[in-house]
Amino acid sequence: MNEQEVYEHQILLDATRYAKEAGALILGFMKKPLQIQEKKNKSDLVTEVDVLSELYLRDQINRDYPDHWILSEETDGAKEESPYAWGKLAPGYGWIIDPIDGTTNFIHGISHFAISIGIVKDGILVCGIVYNPVTADLYSARKQGGAFFNGSPIQVAQEQELSEALLATGFQANDWHSNSVLVEQIRRMAGTSRNVRINGAASLDLCWVASGKLTGFWHDGLYPWDVAAGILIVQEAGGVVTNGAGLAFDLSDQRLIASNLWIHNAFLSVLE
Ligand code: IPD
Ligand code: CA
Ligand code: CA
Repeated sequence: MNEQEVYEHQILLDATRYAKEAGALILGFMKKPLQIQEKKNKSDLVTEVDVLSELYLRDQINRDYPDHWILSEETDGAKEESPYAWGKLAPGYGWIIDPIDGTTNFIHGISHFAISIGIVKDGILVCGIVYNPVTADLYSARKQGGAFFNGSPIQVAQEQELSEALLATGFQANDWHSNSVLVEQIRRMAGTSRNVRINGAASLDLCWVASGKLTGFWHDGLYPWDVAAGILIVQEAGGVVTNGAGLAFDLSDQRLIASNLWIHNAFLSVLE
């Protein structure tokens, strides 16, 4: 490994430790009454546990990597201006954090949510961690270092035809018009694929594409903290992540489509 790879390997180890520690903190609140607040509407929720997890992660990063910037959902999501400035990632190393991806699942006691941490250098994803504290499922990747599930290498699904593909998607919390478009997309995709799932945690959907449980995933209107880690994990597992035009996905793009190489074109054309 060269000097940069050694440094990023250390970042990945530290990010894993922080995610596990935040996960232990979150588990302490499961099955207890939660303080639930609506953000933009009744489908866009936050609890005190999201905030605690985020503050914990921010503290660790600020202590160990004081020269890195941080973009995190509960701190930056409501701001007009963020270090990300919607499309323009700041130079240097930065951490993009969702302290609980799948908050609605968490609130309803559904064990399918995760801490998602993506790390970029000069706008390029270099590390990703997605950790479900209930199942202790840990997905990780380092640029050009492969993708792993609990330490074992993973790769995308082998299905070659859309008709054999199991797909997933999700509703946007803030856009009812797009959600009616999504219902029509689901009708078309369910008709041409094996079936469609809605699981409620975009970061884990991407990891399930990376590990071959799902063949593909599409979603409109996600934020960088939902997808930064998962995108690298899919890419390192041999998958592709594009926007609706089939171009390499940029963190400011609206539509994300992730799958194995074989079904990607057919997936895109049925979706559009
Ligand atoms: C949500 C989840 C969900 C997706 C929503 C996201 P949150 O994130 O990733 O799967 O469909 O659009 O907002 O709010 O639970 O962090
Ligand atoms: Ca999220
Ligand atoms: Ca969240």
